[in-house]
Amino acid sequence: MNFSLTEEQIMIRQAARDFAQNELLPGVIERDEAQKFPSEEVKKMGELGFLGMMVDPKYGGSGLDTISYVLVMEELSKIDASASVVVSVNNSLVCWGLEHYASAAQKEKFLIPLASGKSIGAFCLSEPEAGSDATSQKTTALDKGDHYIVNGTKNWITNGNSAEVYLVIAQTDISKGHKGINALIMTKDMPGFEIGPKENKLGIRGSDTHSLIFNDVKVPKENRIGEDGFGFKFAMKTLAGGRIGIAAQALGIAAGAYELAKKYSKERKAFGTEIMNHQAIAFKLADMHTQIEAARHLVYKAAWDKDQGNDYDLSGAMAKLYASQVAMDTAIEAVQIHGGNGFVKDYHVERYMRDAKITQIYEGTSEIQKIVISRSILKN
Ligand code: CAA
Repeated sequence: MNFSLTEEQIMIRQAARDFAQNELLPGVIERDEAQKFPSEEVKKMGELGFLGMMVDPKYGGSGLDTISYVLVMEELSKIDASASVVVSVNNSLVCWGLEHYASAAQKEKFLIPLASGKSIGAFCLSEPEAGSDATSQKTTALDKGDHYIVNGTKNWITNGNSAEVYLVIAQTDISKGHKGINALIMTKDMPGFEIGPKENKLGIRGSDTHSLIFNDVKVPKENRIGEDGFGFKFAMKTLAGGRIGIAAQALGIAAGAYELAKKYSKERKAFGTEIMNHQAIAFKLADMHTQIEAARHLVYKAAWDKDQGNDYDLSGAMAKLYASQVAMDTAIEAVQIHGGNGFVKDYHVERYMRDAKITQIYEGTSEIQKIVISRSILKN
């Protein structure tokens, strides 16, 4: 068993750390306040190769492994989870799905710009009445021979307005249940494709979350990913990897909140000494450190499974379930350690508390992760 990173992985982690400190940190409070999408920062992350990290260089990607990807996600999320979710969605939910299941022509047209950071993508599964219950798709894609006509609404779509390419899950034949669902590549210049209002969110406020409305959108059949009826499996397979990215995001939020709390505990004095000298605070930090390390092991193991070609449904779900709980617990304790200052935006930790919550909700709630985990461990 080898727990060490390669020189290349250490270098990539350092590049992400430097980028987060130098480029993401300066405007992070203002972007959160104003709900401003980090357009310039995303562009720079594209130039650094962070938007198509695992994609083969022949399709414009960086050709790196999943471990490198989670290291980058962790470092970016230590500073700005609104920026890191763009990286997670583009890499895991959009580029990965296209690289593995799209046709050669689709890769040429859509994957290359997405992986090389020239455009970003969105993954559109959730609906007003189909969140956790993902098979209950109401968006329809009626088969009209050489094209589909798409109608319906998608909700809470990350990169909803900033994306150029949208992977849309829709029902073609309701009588076939999940086997009647397709995944279609759509672009917002298609007539009838409407971007709904931006959501006013608790956390990751810099990210760009919208509903999408489709009114008789004509989508050529050449934009369908895989065989007819492959859409639900496509979504499930894609989300299994996406959960590793969100687990890494949760890990980064936890680690970022912990680092701030540790630093503060060495500076802030109460009762004549730095608060780290009070066991009430030191023990909190001990718990945080231990839980973060445990979460890190789960996240890296899931990434390693993916790189080894092992099944990662179970390890990814466990990593997301645990890391997101650690993110929430750590961020709450980081606010507590900061006391009154923790309640004030300038000290950052309140943002970590708000940002942490979404990691227990998107790409499968914690309850969904427990379904995936329990089914996996009980099937044999
Ligand atoms: N890989 C491949 N196939 C899979 C799979 C996987 N990981 N998981 C399920 N499937 C297949 C099953 O094998 C089954 O196919 P067969 O009938 O051919 O065997 C089919 O999919 C249906 O599976 P289930 O019967 O298990 O379906 P279910 O209705 O019980 O639901 C579920 C399963 C795991 C609960 C699923 O609905 C689910 O994951 N729900 C959560 C959805 C989710 O994560 N949404 C997040 C939205 S995206 C987002 O947040 C993105 C963002 O912008 C940040």
